Amino acid sequence: MDIKQQIIELRTQALEELSRADTLAELEEWRVRYLGKKSRLTEILRGLATLSIEERKEAGAVSNSFKQEIEEAYRQKEKLRRIDTLGSSSSKETIDISLPGRPFARGHLHPVAQALNEIVAIFTAMGFQVLEGPEVEWDYYNFDMLNMPKEHPARAATDTFWLDAPPNEKGWQMLLRTHTSPMQVRTMEKSKPPIRIVVPGIVHRYEATDATHLSMFSQIEGLAVDEGICMADLKGTLHEFARRFFGPDRRVRFRCDFFPYVEPGAEMAVECAVCHGGGCRLCGGAGWIEVLGSGMVHPRVLEGVGIDPKKYSGFAFGMGIERIPLLKYGIEDIRLFYGNDLRFLRQFR
Ligand code: DAH
Repeated sequence: MDIKQQIIELRTQALEELSRADTLAELEEWRVRYLGKKSRLTEILRGLATLSIEERKEAGAVSNSFKQEIEEAYRQKEKLRRIDTLGSSSSKETIDISLPGRPFARGHLHPVAQALNEIVAIFTAMGFQVLEGPEVEWDYYNFDMLNMPKEHPARAATDTFWLDAPPNEKGWQMLLRTHTSPMQVRTMEKSKPPIRIVVPGIVHRYEATDATHLSMFSQIEGLAVDEGICMADLKGTLHEFARRFFGPDRRVRFRCDFFPYVEPGAEMAVECAVCHGGGCRLCGGAGWIEVLGSGMVHPRVLEGVGIDPKKYSGFAFGMGIERIPLLKYGIEDIRLFYGNDLRFLRQFR
């Protein structure tokens, strides 16, 4: 039988068998038999070598169109079979398209991030610009320029994570910043008054972790420098912040405090959310909870960055972020924020 004839017969056979192949296994078997490397067609084409050029051409053309035809037939069959499986309930491989979908687990911002965003929004609305600074810092910015000379107790190794790196050519040592205040210096070095900035960021302290302390936590720093800025500006700004964040009925209290980089220095406390000043477990019986340190920028700090303290003055503040939602919701252990317990975190959706 000549090759052309053989192929024509193969075609009839292939299409007929294809129409009978229904299951996935049968279809695959068919594919190997007719389209695979060791297919019947390959076998037949071995005979080509014995033919003349003319005959070979003809047989080649027939073989090509045969291949195209059965490939297409196979594809159609495949497609039909898939649609069939989807729609029929009797077939074994079914997908029930009437089943309800699985809901996505929707995430949300961490309570500390939520508080931070809210705080930043309040200050930007008051005209403060938002900046960020490095977590790995020089002692020069973290201490020296903030009026904390080498022998100052805040520099003791027990409070600071020092980096195991040699000092730079100016003798500056690397550390993990213990507060966001170094950004006051970095900003004043680069820009002239008027300055109004807030700096959110992570800080580190060499401290044991307990219900009220973390060795890594977040702060937000604030700084305003201009001509004629006075203590009333500080009080007004921070009072307004507290009013917007904690609500208009919450009282705030300023008391003297000491920080080397301000003079005078003050702490601001907010009336306890739970007892409203009466004293309870959350506020440790005090009725008030301290939320930030602040003060008028020390003249020595201004001088250090080349700002004339006779012409300019400023106020600064620094607030711990984790304490804020702690206060707002009456949470008793600060470690809950970073335990990644979803039962805790989901309450802040
Ligand atoms: N840096 C202080 C701290 O970490 C907070 C602070 C106090 C920041 C007074 C200030 C300030 O800017 O004026 O506890």
